[in-house]
This record gives sequence, C-alpha cells and structure tokens, in this order.
Amino acid sequence: MEPIIEVKDVYHQYGETEALSGVSLEIFPGDFVAVVGANGSGKSTLARHLNGLLLPSKGTVRVKNFYTHNPEDIWSVRALVGMVFQNPDNQLVATTVEEDVAFGPENLGVPSNEIRARVDEALKWVNMLDHKKRSPHQLSGGQKQRVAIAGVLAMHPEVLVLDEPTAMLDPVGREEVLQVINHLNKELQMAIVLITHHMEEVAMAKRVIAMAEGKIKVECNPIELFLQTELVDELGLDVPQVFALGNLLRKYGLEVDPAFDPEELVNALCRSN
Ligand SMILES: Nc1ncnc2c1ncn2[C@@H]1O[C@H](COP(=O)(O)OP(=O)(O)OP(=O)(O)O)[C@@H](O)[C@H]1O
Ligand SMILES: [Mg+2]
Repeated sequence: MEPIIEVKDVYHQYGETEALSGVSLEIFPGDFVAVVGANGSGKSTLARHLNGLLLPSKGTVRVKNFYTHNPEDIWSVRALVGMVFQNPDNQLVATTVEEDVAFGPENLGVPSNEIRARVDEALKWVNMLDHKKRSPHQLSGGQKQRVAIAGVLAMHPEVLVLDEPTAMLDPVGREEVLQVINHLNKELQMAIVLITHHMEEVAMAKRVIAMAEGKIKVECNPIELFLQTELVDELGLDVPQVFALGNLLRKYGLEVDPAFDPEELVNALCRSN
C-alpha cells in the first residue's frame, strides 16, 4: 500500500534547539497512529510538519504527490491533512456552528451549494448536526472540539492529525471526542494521527510511536509497548491502569491475556482458570 504521508529523515531546528533529529515515518490509508512521549519530546513539532505548518530544516515531508517545502503544493497538503489542536476556543472563529464548519471549504474555493452539503455531512459525522444554528461559545468543550473536527472534515482530508484534542476536556467531553475519532477511523477509514498524554487513548490505535528527544524511539502496537514496563518508564510514560494490573498478575504467574478494558481483563481472568 502507498503511504499518504511520507516523513523522510526530518530535522527541525528552533534556533539552538533541535526539536526533531532524523524522524522518518509513514502514514497509510485507514491508519490509526498514536504518538506519545514526555513533554518536549517533539510530538507537536512533528505534527506541525505533517501539514506544512512547520517546514523541515533537513529532510522532506511528502503528502501524496506534494511536498510541504514546495510553496505551490502547500494548499493541496493542507486540504489532504487536517489538524485539530488542544484548545477548541482558539479554533472556532465564526458566529454560528455551520458558518464555522463552512470556513475551511470556503477557503478551498468549494462552490457554495456543495459547501452546504459538506457542512451537514461533517456535522453529522461528529454528531453535532442538531446544533448547527447555535453559537460556538454556547457549547460545551467536547461539543466545541467536535465542531472543530467537523471544520477539518468539511475539507475532505485523507488524514486527521489531532494534537492532544482531549487535554482540555472533562471526562464526558473527552469520551465524546474519542468516540468520534474512533468512528471516523472505523466507518470512514480515515487515517488518524493522535498525539496524547492519556495512555488509555493509545489502546484505540493500531500503532503507537513513542518519541524522546526529537527521535522516534519505539514503533509497535499498543500491547507490545505496554508489556515492556521498563521501556515505558524510560520513555516517561505510564501503563494504563487495567493493563498494569494484567502485567502484575502475569508477574505473579497468572496466565492472563493483555487487556485495556476492565471487562476484557475479567474475561481473560476467567479464561485463565
Ligand atoms: N516555538 C518554539 N520555539 C523554540 N523552541 C520550541 C518551540 N516550540 C517547541 N520548542 C522546543 O522544541 C522541543 C519540542 O517541543 P514540542 O512542543 O514539539 O514537544 P511536545 O512533545 O509536543 O511537548 P508537550 O508534550 O509538552 O506538548 C522542546 O524542547 C521545546 O521547548
Ligand atoms: Mg505538544
């Protein structure tokens, strides 16, 4: 399968600070990649390279046939790779939800009758269609973040990059946003890159990339990562609670399969007897 995004040996320098040091990575159609790592490990810097918000000091980022360093390619890149950030308040600009979602496709020059269809479709995907006439500032954090996601979806991207999209949300808002992300990946086969400090969210991903000091240190599936408790420690991460309990039970000789979900762990325990 051809990757949608190919990051090739990318370095990024902020003045004296080298934030990325030779990062290579491919994102495929239907992918779900979680990116984790301690504060300052380079996750956001990497995310901003995926749609050309930042350009490599060295190396290349190719999105389909476009390169982020080619000024004539940049709008094609931005349409193919959508970005959602931590703070929903900084991402909503219009006075109604529907105008907000229309903003992206308007900028892409999409004809106005098609914009309306795209807005409704995108709001439906994030389960916010009933709120389209409302003002964004009347919404909860989770609702705002879902509108921000809809705004990106209305541009019909092939990859959705989310930089800690749940960091500022309460548990309910967080759950709503995670469900939407999961749905987009499962139902629409949209490729997802999810940057997160919440290790429970990593369980949803097919692959996890762990960064440290501007480099990719580990690339594996979530189960493989959390079975390696020493490595997880070294990377400044933690093992999700339920998974950690499974690790502990295995350490004491119980043969239980790894599980992220409490019910799954209970089932694994029942099977082990
Ligand atoms: N605009 C900037 N100017 C100078 N240095 C920066 C800038 N943005 C980030 N850095 C530095 O680059 C390195 C990587 O930062 P980055 O924000 O990519 O990390 P991160 O993994 O996203 O961290 P966090 O988990 O805190 O969001 C850090 O050393 C940071 O201090
Ligand atoms: Mg960051």
